[in-house]
Parts: sequence; structure tokens; C-alpha cells
Amino acid sequence: MIDVLPRESASIWLDLIETTPSLVFDPAMCRHKWGALTKALPGVALYYAVKSNPYPDLINTIAAEGGCFDVASLAEIKMLENQGVHPSRMIHTHPIKTDVEIERAVNSGVITFVVDNVDELWKLIPYRHVIQVMLRLSFIAPDAPIDLSRKFGAPVQDALSILDVANDSGIRINGLCFHVGSQAATANTHADALATCLKLSEKVKEKGLPDIVRIDIGGGFPAHYISEPVDFDSFCAPIREVLTNAPDHIQVLAEPGRAISAPSMALVCKVIGRAKRRDGWWFYLDDGVYGAQSGRIFDGMHYRMSVFTSGNEQAPCVFAGPTCDSIDELGRYPEFPVLNMNDIIVFHEMGAYTLASATQFNGIAPPAVVNRALPSQIREHRRTF
Ligand SMILES: Cc1ncc(COP(=O)(O)O)c(C=O)c1O
Repeated sequence: MIDVLPRESASIWLDLIETTPSLVFDPAMCRHKWGALTKALPGVALYYAVKSNPYPDLINTIAAEGGCFDVASLAEIKMLENQGVHPSRMIHTHPIKTDVEIERAVNSGVITFVVDNVDELWKLIPYRHVIQVMLRLSFIAPDAPIDLSRKFGAPVQDALSILDVANDSGIRINGLCFHVGSQAATANTHADALATCLKLSEKVKEKGLPDIVRIDIGGGFPAHYISEPVDFDSFCAPIREVLTNAPDHIQVLAEPGRAISAPSMALVCKVIGRAKRRDGWWFYLDDGVYGAQSGRIFDGMHYRMSVFTSGNEQAPCVFAGPTCDSIDELGRYPEFPVLNMNDIIVFHEMGAYTLASATQFNGIAPPAVVNRALPSQIREHRRTF
């Protein structure tokens, strides 16, 4: 969805920043989302997925709320430690790790690791007396645009044999985990997968294998992009229903990333160039896919936009980023107001997988970040595309 607003209204954003492009981080919004998801998943321990946005003040905000953290590398562990987060509040959920990575993570004090195959188990043998392990299973959410079930996760039918091998090798696997895919439209797959894991934990008990005491339902909780606004309470209802069947000795965890980080930041950009070409007007912004908008390519994402312009004439148009690469395109519209130089574009819910994967391509720096309260949306707008 694109709102087109008067150019002079852009001051509510420009007053917050020193330069464009800038990401505006709102600690209160971050706290609000963390609190809302915590409330929607009672009894579930939330581990924020650092990979979605490692911005230090975002980490501090979650740490101050008593949150825990899901890490994927030694660098993330060290970064969190520098922020004052104790490793006992971290779980290392990357299913594939180097020996050095494991050794250093264990030496740092992280004790929870994830495997999804037997070769990864062998790497953990030297640390078997000090660590806890979760087995990652593969479940695919048909309504999640970003699939995470092909690259990682053992098939459910292989679970018991992997648990057997682990047990024979003295490795205690006492948890199950999964990630159904990012930006899921519903929590139906989370709920089905949790129910499957609960059933599997009974079979594990029957076989006399170590008890499953943790089930980690991963991430996948959505942000509000061009789809409907997200209500965590109704989104999580199917999960809550299955949770009522979870025995008391099983602790349930989740690893939300996008749902927390995306709404916590907005991106303010400017039109730095424009040209009338064969296929319409091209508007060049000061941020693109090599900056904070790589999700357009990596995840096929489209973001909500507020465009501040006094342009009235309508024409076909193309938005593009600032680099010399032709892949750095941000969207085509058959009819759009012809923008002027220095017009302002604000992209909403831009905190997830944006800053985290921004590059310096062409020597162009990623957006600056400022901590400010995000303005509420201006109602009086001229046109919605
Ligand atoms: C293991 C793991 N946990 C959590 C997440 C966060 O997922 P999301 O941002 O969809 O909540 C990811 C994302 O790739 C992941 O790989």
C-alpha cells in the first residue's frame, strides 16, 4: 500500500533525522511488540532472533525487558556479551557449525545447541557433558513466503533414529525445534508442528530415550508489510490451543525475529535523481537493494510506503536505488504522481533483515540509525495506491 501525502507533511519525519537515508528506531514500539507477543504466547519463553536486526539499542531494549536471544554465530555471541547479555540467556540455533565455532561458543558459556543430522552430532561429542541439544525437524508452512524447511531440518520420520544415535553416543538430546518459514500468514503450521512434536515426545518416552523437556517453535511471526495489520493475539490462537495439551515438564520456546524488529524501524529516503526514460519516469532514491532493501531480492518482500510530494501529474514510473547496478530496482507502477527532486519516501516496518544485510556496494554507506518515537500515520492523505 502506498499513501501519497503533501510534501510539507514530510517535516514530521525530517525533524527526526539529520540526513537521508535514515532508519528511525523506536524503543517504545520494540517494547510494545515484545510485550504483545509475550502476552499472546503465555508461558512461552521468547528468544529474539538476533540475525533479523543486531542494532545494539534494539538488543538493549529487549534485554531490559528480560528477553533472551537466539544466536547463529560466535560474532553474535560476542556482540551480545559486549552489550552485557550473559550467555546463559542465549541459545545457538544454527544447525551447521564449524568445530571452532562450537568450541568457542561453549567456552563463552552458551550451552544450548541445535542439530538436524548425525554428522553434526559427532562435532558435539567433546562437549556432551556440558551442553544440551535440540533436534531440528522440518515442517513447511504453505502460507510462509520464505521457506526454511529445505535447507534445514530432519524429516519427522527420521527423528527417532537420530535420537537413538545421539543417545548411543552419550549426547543428550532433550529438545525439539523447528522453523516453519518466515512471515507466515497464519500460525496453523506452528500449531500442527507443535502438536506433532508433543506426540513425538511421547514416543521418545516409550522408547526409553531421554525425555523431551523443551520444544522450540521458532520464528515466522509476521510483520505488517502490504498485507493486513498483525494482531499477535489472534495470530497465536492456534498455538495457544495446542499449548493447552502440553505437559508441565515441557518448556516451550519461540525465536521471533521479524515480528519484533520490523515494526521497530522505519526508513526515510529522498529522491536524489529522476529521469524520463522509454518506460516512464525513473525516480532514484538514496537507499536501495544494496542498502536496507535487500529483502526485496532475498525474500521477495514489498514494503508499505508513504510518499511526500507536491507532484500532481500521473505517469508510469519506476523506483530505483542509488547504485549503478540495474538489479537495484524497487518497484514499477503503471500510474503514479511524477515526483520532484528531494521528495521524501518513508518505508514502514523496515527493521527486519534490512540493516542486518546492508552492504557498502559502490562505496555507498548503509542508512544511519537514530532513536526516536515513530510518528503516527497522517490520516489526511491524497491518494492510496
Ligand atoms: C533458526 C532461526 N530462528 C529464528 C529465525 C527468525 O525468524 P523470523 O524472522 O521469521 O521470526 C530464523 C530466521 O531465519 C532462524 O533461521
